[in-house]
Amino acid sequence: MNSERIKALSSFVDKEDIVLDVGCDHGYLSIYLKQNNLCKEVLASDISKNALSQAQSNFKKYHLNIKSYISDGFNNIEDSFNTAVIAGMGTSTILNILDNKKTPNKLIISSNNEHFKLRKNLNILGYKLIKEKIVYEKNHYYIIMLYLKGKQSLSKKEVLFGISNNKKYYNYLLNKNRELLPKVPLRKKLNILYENHLLKGLIEKK
Ligand SMILES: C[S@@+](CC[C@H](N)C(=O)[O-])C[C@H]1O[C@@H](n2cnc3c(N)ncnc32)[C@H](O)[C@@H]1O
Repeated sequence: MNSERIKALSSFVDKEDIVLDVGCDHGYLSIYLKQNNLCKEVLASDISKNALSQAQSNFKKYHLNIKSYISDGFNNIEDSFNTAVIAGMGTSTILNILDNKKTPNKLIISSNNEHFKLRKNLNILGYKLIKEKIVYEKNHYYIIMLYLKGKQSLSKKEVLFGISNNKKYYNYLLNKNRELLPKVPLRKKLNILYENHLLKGLIEKK
């Protein structure tokens, strides 16, 4: 349960935060936050009844009092919260959840895909990317993002590759692109070559 990914998500949580764990599934993040007393309050939600009952039985098992909701995103949450963690979902689902009047000041996000689309749209939605952490776990890179409400316009390079300054991750992206290069049509090749030029710059940057 105490995975590096959960710890990295939790590292962006502050003591005064009232956290809504959106799509809590088994509830492990909520449990970690509550057991370690990392924030003022934790609320857990999931769109799936089965997932939420799994979380509820875990809360019971660990003797934790965590309010939980069946909810699509922020829709049925009666209590107020100032922070939302949205992790383990795709960018389209995350953007659908954020298409809501009840968005909090602080977001901790970890998407499974299309990180460039996420970064671009969060700026448009009025959020500012503050920090990114990269976690490598179970043969997979996870990008954990911290956003606060505010104005920002990331550069093309930042939209594509983020602000983590994690050279191992940039090398991983470069190698993935190099493997892809012979398999794609010319128009895509040019894009990939441009991306690789940017990635090499990030890797060589002191
Ligand atoms: C892969 S799990 C991730 C669980 C946890 N957040 C984590 O990162 O370990 C994705 C969860 O998101 C839930 N989910 C998907 N769309 C949702 C939505 N619109 N609102 C709330 N929960 C959603 C799913 O039911 C599932 O339990």
